[in-house]
Amino acid sequence: MNDDLTMAGETATYKRPDEDIKAFRKSILDWYDTHARILPWRARPYEQPDPYHVWLSEVMLQQTVVAAVIPYFQKFVDKWPTVTDLANAHNDDVMAAWAGLGYYARARNLHKCAQVVAYELGGKFPNNQKDLKALPGIGDYTSAAITSIAFNKQSTVVDGNIERVMSRLYAITTPLPDSKAEIKSYAQTLSDCSADQRPGDYAQALMDIGAGVCIPKSPRCAICPVSNNCLGRKQRIAAELPYKVKKAPKPAKHGNIYLVTNADGQILLERRPDTGLLGGMLAFPTSEWVDHKQTVGHPEHFDNAASMGKDVTVHHVFTHFSLKLKGFRLDLHEKITNSSDHYVWVSRDDILNVGLPTLFKKFAKLVIENET
Ligand code: ADE
Repeated sequence: MNDDLTMAGETATYKRPDEDIKAFRKSILDWYDTHARILPWRARPYEQPDPYHVWLSEVMLQQTVVAAVIPYFQKFVDKWPTVTDLANAHNDDVMAAWAGLGYYARARNLHKCAQVVAYELGGKFPNNQKDLKALPGIGDYTSAAITSIAFNKQSTVVDGNIERVMSRLYAITTPLPDSKAEIKSYAQTLSDCSADQRPGDYAQALMDIGAGVCIPKSPRCAICPVSNNCLGRKQRIAAELPYKVKKAPKPAKHGNIYLVTNADGQILLERRPDTGLLGGMLAFPTSEWVDHKQTVGHPEHFDNAASMGKDVTVHHVFTHFSLKLKGFRLDLHEKITNSSDHYVWVSRDDILNVGLPTLFKKFAKLVIENET
């Protein structure tokens, strides 16, 4: 290969000659033609997928791995086959169908976005990044992915897997996240192409190489279609890349969680406020969640809560902290069944089917186990 190392501003830039880029893209696309993963939102190589499917899958894949997304994607398209069906759905049903996928702001934005597309854009997704980014829940990454995959138009798609692929191809030793701009500029050079050069398939091929070949810790260079172009491999540092700035450990929080029952044995759930963590989702009532050094008391209406007999504690790890909630019970022995927008009484038999987020589903399962 004809190496050409130049300085652009303060960043050392490795430029591949045009010929190399063509050969590189051809190797990637040839590989994709025989190795593309079969995924429910994907069209076959050369074919155009449904933009609704591409958008839905990309929003689901924003912070979640492919294997976890597949059953949710299938559930959504079975329930709501078009963007207009999704727009017309009740928000509580969308939130319940999303329960367990996490990052619930995505579900609220998904529903809002479906409504804008269905009611203001005639059911058609925009085919360019600028207009896509004006929609709720669509940022740089998702707009780039939709533009290339759904519309076969050039864009630069960089997700976590592609960051790793680029870091290795160019032996980028600046740790993430500082290397993001450098990675993007290399990715841009490689993705620059016209429609007949299959931008959608190229983006998906890079995703598949990142997911199955150029994997963390032990890259499978022997089966990589572009291992000859890889500077990281040449320098024998591919396995270590990308370097990352060490993250601070997650803070630990704790609090109480309440099993409140009425005379009929129904269980009290509340809907969390729309904004904030687990926003808009059904939940067991809890105390405040405080730093591990602080003590926590019962909230006002749960003053009489008692310990659960056997110790019932749920642990959950969120992106920015870990949480431990200690279970208490409050048996009201009263016939109260009127539900409101905020409080809902649910029978024991239904508790695992109402769309609780994972943290609260864990508590429901512990409670059920404890009582049977
Ligand atoms: N990760 C993010 N988007 C993806 C896609 N369209 N296919 C596979 N993995 C992905």
